[in-house]
Amino acid sequence: MTMQRRIAVLAAVTALSATLVTAAPALATPGMSSPTLRKEAPIDLHIGSASWGARDLTPYDPKNPTQYQQILSTQFNSITPENDMKWDATEPAPGVFDFTGADAVVRFAEANHMAVRGHNLLWHNQNPQWVMDAYKSWTCDQAKAVLKDHITTVVGHFKGKIYQWDVANEIFHDTWDPNAYDANGQLRLRTDQNPFLYACSSDPVGLLEDAFRWAHAADPNAVLFMNDYAVEGINTKTDAYYALAQKMLADGVPLGGFGAQGHLDLDYGFDNSLQANFERFAKLGLQVAITEADVRVRVDANGQPINPADVQRQADYYGRMLQACLNVPQCTSFTVWQYTDSKSWVPGVFPGKGYATPYTADYTPKPAYYTLRNLLAEATPGRSPRVPMGS
Ligand code: XIL
Repeated sequence: MTMQRRIAVLAAVTALSATLVTAAPALATPGMSSPTLRKEAPIDLHIGSASWGARDLTPYDPKNPTQYQQILSTQFNSITPENDMKWDATEPAPGVFDFTGADAVVRFAEANHMAVRGHNLLWHNQNPQWVMDAYKSWTCDQAKAVLKDHITTVVGHFKGKIYQWDVANEIFHDTWDPNAYDANGQLRLRTDQNPFLYACSSDPVGLLEDAFRWAHAADPNAVLFMNDYAVEGINTKTDAYYALAQKMLADGVPLGGFGAQGHLDLDYGFDNSLQANFERFAKLGLQVAITEADVRVRVDANGQPINPADVQRQADYYGRMLQACLNVPQCTSFTVWQYTDSKSWVPGVFPGKGYATPYTADYTPKPAYYTLRNLLAEATPGRSPRVPMGS
C-alpha cells in the first residue's frame, strides 16, 4: 500500500469510528437495537409469557405502556392469558359469556405483533360456581351439551386469533395420589375431580375426543393441545398421555399438540428424558411445547434465594428446558408463567418458594434470562427455522 493510500484508509477508518461514537447513544436505546428474546428466537419457535389481561394489561395505552407491558412486548412474541380464558372468567353464569380480560390480552397482542396461546377449555380447577353446583346431577349428554356450547362460543369468539389452544388441561391424576390407578394398574383420568369427566365417567375418552372435535370445528387453524404438569420426562403420567394420544389419533381426533407445563423446583432433580419424551410425541405427528415454565427456589422472607448458588442452578434448569425444546423442531412454543417475580403465582401457592421467573420483581434480568437469550441466539444461524428431525 502506498503512503497516500495508507493515509486515505486511516482517514476513512477515523471518520467511521467518529460516526460510530456519535451513533453510540442511539444504538444503546433499550428496545431499539439491544437483543431480546423474541428477536433472537428461531423463526419457528414462539417465545411467550403468561399475562393476566384483567390485571396486567388493563388499562393499556400503546403510547404510554407500563414498564411491565413494555418489557412484555419487547421480549416476547406470544402471550398466554394466565386466567382470562378459564371457565370462571369466560362463562360466569350459564350461557352468559364475558371476554373482557381475554379481549384485553388479544388487543395487547395484536398491537405488539404477538401471538396468543389459548388456555384452557376443560380443567378441574377454576370452574364457575354454577358448574360446581350442578355437575353431580348431570347426565353425560347434559355435560356434553354444556361443554359443547362453551367450547363453541369461546373458541368461536377468538377464531383466527389463537395459534394453540390448551383444550384439555391436567386430565390425568397425580401419580402419587393413592386412588390414581384403576383395577388394571393404569393411571386414571380425573373422573372424580373434573366435573365433565365425572359426568361422563363411563366414557371419559369419548368426552375428550368430542371436546377436540368441537374446538376444531370452531377454529380449524388452531393447534389443539393436551397440557399438564409433571409430564416433562418419560414417566407413568406421560406414558398414559402417550397411549391416549395414540388412541385419539387412531380415532381421527384433531389432536395437534402435547404441552409440558414446566413448573420445576430446584428441590427436585432435572429430568433429562425431556427431549426424548418430546421426540416420541413429535414422532406421532404432534407439536410439543413448554407452556408454563418457572423454576421455584427456596427463598427468605424477602423473596430472595436462601442459597446464592441457586441463582445459577435456576439458570441451568431454564436452559435445559429450553435446549430440549430447541432440539426438537416440533417444539413450537416456549412460554414462561409470567416473566417477573412481581407477578408470579409461586409465592402465593408454594410456601417458602419464590424467585421463580427470569426477571426480579424490580425488572432486572437474572442469569436465567441471559441463559435463555444466549441459547436462542445460538440455536440457528440468524433466525432461520430449525432443521427437522431425521434430516
Ligand atoms: C394459575 C395462575 O397462575 C394463578 O393466578 C391462579 O390463581 C391459579 O392458576 N397450571 C395451569 C395454570 O394450567 O392455569 C395455573 O395458573 C398454574 C398451574
